[in-house]
Amino acid sequence: MSNQSFAPASDTSLRRYEHLYIDGEWVKPLDGELIESIDPATGKPWAIAPMGGPQDIDRAVAAARQAFNGPWRRMPGHERAALLRRFADLFSAAIPELAVIESRDNGNLVREHRASLTAQVQWYQWFASLADKAQGTTIPIDDSVHAFTTRVPIGVVGAIIPWNAPLLATCLKIGAALAAGCAVVVKPAEQTPVSALELARLMHEAGIPPGVFNVVPGFGRTAGAHLVKHPDVNKISFTGASQTAKHMVRDGAENLKRFTFELGGKAPHIIFADADLDNAINAATASAWRLTGQSCALGSRVLVERPIYDRVVDAFRTRAKSVRVGLPSVDTNHMGPQAHEEQLRKTLSYIEFGKQDGAELITGGSRVLTPALAPGYFVEPTVFAGVTNRMRIARDEIFGPVASLIPFDGEDEAVAIANDTPYGLTAGLWTRDVGRAHRVSNRIEAGMVWVNTYSFLRWSTPYGGFKVSGWGRENGIHALDPYLETRTTVISTSGQFPNLYT
Ligand code: NAI
Ligand code: MG
Repeated sequence: MSNQSFAPASDTSLRRYEHLYIDGEWVKPLDGELIESIDPATGKPWAIAPMGGPQDIDRAVAAARQAFNGPWRRMPGHERAALLRRFADLFSAAIPELAVIESRDNGNLVREHRASLTAQVQWYQWFASLADKAQGTTIPIDDSVHAFTTRVPIGVVGAIIPWNAPLLATCLKIGAALAAGCAVVVKPAEQTPVSALELARLMHEAGIPPGVFNVVPGFGRTAGAHLVKHPDVNKISFTGASQTAKHMVRDGAENLKRFTFELGGKAPHIIFADADLDNAINAATASAWRLTGQSCALGSRVLVERPIYDRVVDAFRTRAKSVRVGLPSVDTNHMGPQAHEEQLRKTLSYIEFGKQDGAELITGGSRVLTPALAPGYFVEPTVFAGVTNRMRIARDEIFGPVASLIPFDGEDEAVAIANDTPYGLTAGLWTRDVGRAHRVSNRIEAGMVWVNTYSFLRWSTPYGGFKVSGWGRENGIHALDPYLETRTTVISTSGQFPNLYT
């Protein structure tokens, strides 16, 4: 499928994207192809999108290297900040359109995308505000030696993006990388190639110099792997599956590539018997089903203290009935489809594993097959009770709207179950006891612990995982660190260096 007129001429409803964005220009793929991008709410193509191949990655990396070595790395931080702010303003104005595009590609609610995009404006502003603050230190030695450190951009960065929250993941990477003075090549996921191309349009309009920002949609095993192996790429920043990150580490070994990873999760959401139960239920049901379960941060394991276990099971059953599953374009709906067919199949197969492993299916468990939704990839909000932490639904990241309710007795057991997972990204706990809040949160092996709240994320709060959930942190005051190297310079003014060989 390498021809450029792949879409049937009659299909005028398709949006056509035929060009990659490389070196400030829109170019056709050299060794890629055009594919149909599927709208998961209808199961039908909504756009034609270009997939780049290895040669396209080569072109983009070369452009990024040239731009990095040109004016970009020497541009004063406050000037890069001004460009990023101009971009943020254009991005802000484009939110209504971007929300719809992102929703057509990945099926999440337009309403939720609008909220996320509004927050992303703040994120870009935050990164812009850090652009002139990559300060070094002075190291005291003596009057005749001046030692100091300088923070310098790491070089060319490959940003590899997942399909579940494409624009947010892209923002966290490119905002920090560009503010730091790096040049970037973005490779969006094959399932959601379009929104990054729209970003490129805005970057262009904002006046980001040619080559500083490049977008090459493509498949993981071809374009993605080529970017990871590329000897002229200094760093890969990746959000996606932990398994994929393991491949990347091997692929990047040849030039000891740097990596930042935001990977999978299997978050425990712990509800103690002394919790404010109404709010805990609100948070636990929201975090089980929001984004159709397609987020690494969501609380898919709900750990409930035994005295309140039956009440929580009942509350989940009742709440599931009020979830309005439907088209993501309708603002009153609560839950859209799974983002693509493979994810639909994965979720349904895990629901079968839950039954096989002896969990009790309380509600949901099926694909939605009403006439309006049957062509799309919709799944009912699903609840399993009587789950043990050994079952596959409690061990593996499902990425579907499937809550597993696990009973426990006391703090020690809660902590043991919470930490009995290879993942360690996020966790939640609900208790009215301040001492317990400190004790338990301090024992949780996760990069983010929420107490009496959930999914509270800001540009200012460092985010990332313990264990197989990641390497490094995004966001926060140190958000530029992953994109900077430290150079130590020692300058002697003594005018003396002894001859060792007299
Ligand atoms: P994935 O990790 O394979 O894909 C994410 C991105 O990595 C895409 O852009 C893809 O093209 C790229 N990629 C894939 N293989 C690559 C390779 N060998 N070299 C370079 N790039 C590569 O995730 P996938 O297969 O789409 O989803 C599978 C599961 O992963 C999901 O069901 C979910 O459990 C988890 N996942 C977790 C995410 C998170 O936010 N932590 C995001 C996406 C998926
Ligand atoms: Mg994969």
